[in-house]
Amino acid sequence: MSYTVPKLKDFSPAALDKAVAEFLSALDTESVGVQIETERKAFRDRWQGRKNGLLTQVNDRWLKTAPTDAKRDVGQRVNVLKSRVAETIEKLRPSVSATAVVKGLSLRAEVGQPTAYGDSSIDISLPGIRRPIGAEHPIIRTMNEIIAVFRNLGYSVAEGPVIETDYHNFESLNFPPNHPARDTQDTLFLANQESKPARERLLLRTHTSPVQIRTMEKLKPPLRILIPGKVHRNDPPDASHSPMFHQVEGLAVDTNITFGDLKGTLDHAMKALFGSDVKTSFRPSFFPFTEPSAEMFVSCFICGGSGKRRTDPCRPCKQTGWIEILGCGMVDPNVFEFVKRNGYDPEKVSGFAFGMGVDRIAMLKYGLDDLQLFFQGDVRFLEQFG
Ligand code: DAH
Repeated sequence: MSYTVPKLKDFSPAALDKAVAEFLSALDTESVGVQIETERKAFRDRWQGRKNGLLTQVNDRWLKTAPTDAKRDVGQRVNVLKSRVAETIEKLRPSVSATAVVKGLSLRAEVGQPTAYGDSSIDISLPGIRRPIGAEHPIIRTMNEIIAVFRNLGYSVAEGPVIETDYHNFESLNFPPNHPARDTQDTLFLANQESKPARERLLLRTHTSPVQIRTMEKLKPPLRILIPGKVHRNDPPDASHSPMFHQVEGLAVDTNITFGDLKGTLDHAMKALFGSDVKTSFRPSFFPFTEPSAEMFVSCFICGGSGKRRTDPCRPCKQTGWIEILGCGMVDPNVFEFVKRNGYDPEKVSGFAFGMGVDRIAMLKYGLDDLQLFFQGDVRFLEQFG
């Protein structure tokens, strides 16, 4: 069935045409179904191979044996055959894309550079290249866990800008200009703001509390919101400090909100976050935007509140049995004064607020002793959270 180059006795144009037609028809037939690289090579060897390819045979059997007066005719035809063979082989070369037909399925696959073993076709029996899907960053994960706890209590999420005005970051939170309480938040200011009025000058927000004001400017009471976000302070980086870190802020405003609501809400949230065994403790503190203010501690969930791990002193709670988690308090009436026109009359509404550092909570949760690990982008660290 497979084509062989016949020896010619008759070199008349008609006989030559017939031989040429047979050759070309075999060329077409055999080229159908040549798909993969090994088949293409075999096809090329059969038709173009120098030693015993069919074109070489045509040369030997037709051209060399042709009588002198037929040589010209035969030569022309052989040239046609040569270029037809070359064209056919060229068409079989996989270009930018190739179609692989396997078990009746037609798969279009990209074919780029030849592979390492010099074969540019695709072996679709090989497993594909999987793109690793990233892992949720441990800080984002911790934020989401905190948010989930408060979502169940009916809180929604609000966000605000990282570049903030002096008014929102300080003034409206009852830090008057030049008040010493500002010094507790070592602020990074944007350059070239001097020409603006003080309250419009821009800075990197030092806490998420300005979003309390921004939300109350937009939404009327009652309100229950949670505010996750990035904040900045001028702290040089070390194992427990970073100029950029994360907070989650909370704010609840309604009529008749009391300190009891604050304690009940936060105690529930801490049990949901750290385990039902933890206790909470509220100690008096000061923040300009809350009155009264408190710092809230949870009993150490590492040592169970004993201050000891087996025989070693417990490091996370510094042997005190308590870990400071957040600042909180009842919203200062002076803060409501700034949004009074939007329904926050301090005579009518009351509220509580709290703010916690996410990075430290994540460090405690995952037992890390170096805050910088979160921000170095080392995949070997991050992929452990996948
Ligand atoms: N914004 C404070 C800080 O960054 C934390 C804080 C304290 C937030 C008390 C509050 C709060 O909402 O009521 O130090």
